[in-house]
Amino acid sequence: MTSSSRGLEGVIAAQTGISFIDGTNGRLFYRGIDINELVEHSTFEETTALLWYGDLPTSRQLDSFKRKMVENRLVPNEIIALLLLLPKKTSPMGVLRTAVSALAPFDPETGDNSLEANVNKSIRLTAALPTIVAAWDRIRNGLWPVTPSDHLDHAANFLYMLTGVEPDAETARVLDQCLILHADHGLNASTFAARITASTLSNLHSAIVSAIGTLKGPLHGGANEQVMRMLLEIGNPERVDQYMRGALAAKKKIMGFGHRVYKADDPRALWLQRLAARLADRTGNRRWFDMSERIRAIVQTEKALPVNVDFYSASVYYTLGVPIDLFTPIFAISRVAGWTAHVYEQYSDNRLIRPEAEYIGPLDVPYTPIEQRQ
Ligand SMILES: CC(C)(COP(=O)(O)OP(=O)(O)OC[C@H]1O[C@@H](n2cnc3c(N)ncnc32)[C@H](O)[C@@H]1OP(=O)(O)O)[C@@H](O)C(=O)NCCC(=O)NCCS
Repeated sequence: MTSSSRGLEGVIAAQTGISFIDGTNGRLFYRGIDINELVEHSTFEETTALLWYGDLPTSRQLDSFKRKMVENRLVPNEIIALLLLLPKKTSPMGVLRTAVSALAPFDPETGDNSLEANVNKSIRLTAALPTIVAAWDRIRNGLWPVTPSDHLDHAANFLYMLTGVEPDAETARVLDQCLILHADHGLNASTFAARITASTLSNLHSAIVSAIGTLKGPLHGGANEQVMRMLLEIGNPERVDQYMRGALAAKKKIMGFGHRVYKADDPRALWLQRLAARLADRTGNRRWFDMSERIRAIVQTEKALPVNVDFYSASVYYTLGVPIDLFTPIFAISRVAGWTAHVYEQYSDNRLIRPEAEYIGPLDVPYTPIEQRQ
């Protein structure tokens, strides 16, 4: 037996044409297009079409794609009824996982695993995720969910459903750019989970449920929430140095830093840094951005760790007024584009993903009858 790799580091477990991370140079490509180009010129809807269909859509294709997304924003009343039954303390990621699971039998093509049906299911799921997250936030606060807009784009509609107020164009564009930045990222843990589930020929909804459960953890998507909790715990820029000295001496993991693939700074983080700076200037509240800059300087001097996507997204979302426990659901609202693209790719050339474990326990242990056990 060959030796195992802890955490599958360095193991190539799939081939993909969806996204590529150049970890040495800190670059990321979706379907070969540099993420910097996309975040500057594209929209979440267009980027999603690129990930699913492989090419940028024409304007007619994009119009039709956006129309289908808008038409599928409403979720069945039964799903809202289900949310009303859940304990108010349920985490939004837990709600999302439960709701996606519950949505499967409502999908008109639930038993059809063809590519066409799966693309339709992906449109329905991608359109529905923001509705579920926003509805949950309203319900847990004793408010009635806001009916999705039929004219706002994906990012703007999410903010509208969350607050009941249409966001200004600049705010909506910031969230749209965040969604572009989070849409796909190679064989990250949640995407791998989705592909493993798909590789058993289980259905698309099951694969997305696996992915949501995996994204939730603090070493993956949950890190953005932990970054904000750290910023709040520190409280103000004057306390950063002392806090960081203590955290590094205690060998604490500093959320938002380190990455399995990037050896250079994550290009998505550098964009989010710009967005955080712009929002700080616009709102006149520089506290979270200035603290983030100081934390990054200390971590990079003391530990030489690259900054990752979750670090600046925390202060961006917080400044946009998003509740902290919705940061990871926003990641999911975007990453569902990549997860579903990977599910089709897995189905298109499937082989069961079934690695082996290196067994390190004893063998031939005698069976002790229960009366002789101590
Ligand atoms: C992302 C992450 C899980 C990658 O893990 P990994 O590839 O298994 O790397 P390791 O955890 O083995 O880290 C390698 C070394 O760097 C250190 N390190 C990695 N990330 C660190 C962090 N954020 N803070 C402090 N030290 C860190 C580890 O302690 C380890 O040190 P050691 O060799 O002295 O034990 C890890 O960097 C991490 O936990 N980061 C914080 C969570 C986070 O931001 N996640 C979002 C990722 S996009």
